[in-house]
Amino acid sequence: MVQPTSPVANSAALLAWYDRSARVLPWRARPGETVDPYRVWLSEVMLQQTTVAAVAPYFLRFVERWPTIEALAAAPVDAVTGAWAGLGYYARARNLHACAKLVAEWRHGRFPEDEESLRKLPGIGDYTAAAIAAIAFGRKAVVVDGNVERVMARLFAVTDPLPGAKAHLKALAAALTPEVRPGDYAQAVMDLGATVCTPKSPACGICPWMEPCQARRLGIAAGLPAKAEKAPRPTRHGIAFWLIRPDGAVLLRRRPPHGLLGGMMEVPGTEWRDGLWSLDEAAAHAPLAAEWRPLPGRVAHTFTHFHLELAVATAKAGPRAAARGIWCPLDNLGDQALPTLMRKVVRHALAKAY
Ligand code: ADE
Repeated sequence: MVQPTSPVANSAALLAWYDRSARVLPWRARPGETVDPYRVWLSEVMLQQTTVAAVAPYFLRFVERWPTIEALAAAPVDAVTGAWAGLGYYARARNLHACAKLVAEWRHGRFPEDEESLRKLPGIGDYTAAAIAAIAFGRKAVVVDGNVERVMARLFAVTDPLPGAKAHLKALAAALTPEVRPGDYAQAVMDLGATVCTPKSPACGICPWMEPCQARRLGIAAGLPAKAEKAPRPTRHGIAFWLIRPDGAVLLRRRPPHGLLGGMMEVPGTEWRDGLWSLDEAAAHAPLAAEWRPLPGRVAHTFTHFHLELAVATAKAGPRAAARGIWCPLDNLGDQALPTLMRKVVRHALAKAY
């Protein structure tokens, strides 16, 4: 393999590009501003598996409501998961809150500065620890997300598919990481991947790494990184029970603390399984015996490992119906920690039920 020009020259070219072209992002300190580790940590946790565009409004709402780690630590966990609703992967919100409590109560609100100690905190894995160490504390750390993997695969024309190529791409990223301005460098590679070295049609003509890029020279940039074929997502099925009281309250329940959507609220329902449910069969799993009526249509939602299709059945409960769960007035549904899937169920039921 032909080596690109020296790592130092490459990182200098990239930092010069970053000084001209860095994205203005709400969590990013501008030149001359002091970096706030709380904002770096919060944004990096939100950015795990979620795009910059989706995160920005959530980040702004969080820092307005909870401007410091102490404020976040003092919030009830349900307020935090509720404000998180829509960002997905809800265990992240619970870990975020647990981490805030730990840092506020045991570390006087100060994050540790090295990767190893950061990794011991809830919700902080290799990527986030490296990002915080580099961006908040100026430590040299190898920050590798999907953008960085793509940039490295192209710069060095790595044609082995992901995920197998991960360790190799990380080693290449490590060899390029400079001693100077490690936080800016980490953000520069991510920005390059997000704005220039994009997945489908990279803008090679304006890339600060155009010269050393092996994939561009070979004409294979747009095809990298190669990805191993994924198993197709199966479809699972369930029935949700929309039980409404004469005063307009609807029955919700809390999901078990661990596992998918752990600890979030939900419209009660059957388990989700490969086969379709008949209403008769499902009724045995309903929160109470009633005249369940199927609503037309389905709610569809895609999780990482499967598609879900939920049918919704509705019934009217008596004023003192004894069903296990929490009766929530329709007007208060917005305050509940309902994940996106359950918000879809609510919208579907409200559109179809009357
Ligand atoms: N993606 C995740 N964190 C980022 C950051 N700090 N800058 C740019 N892109 C990112």
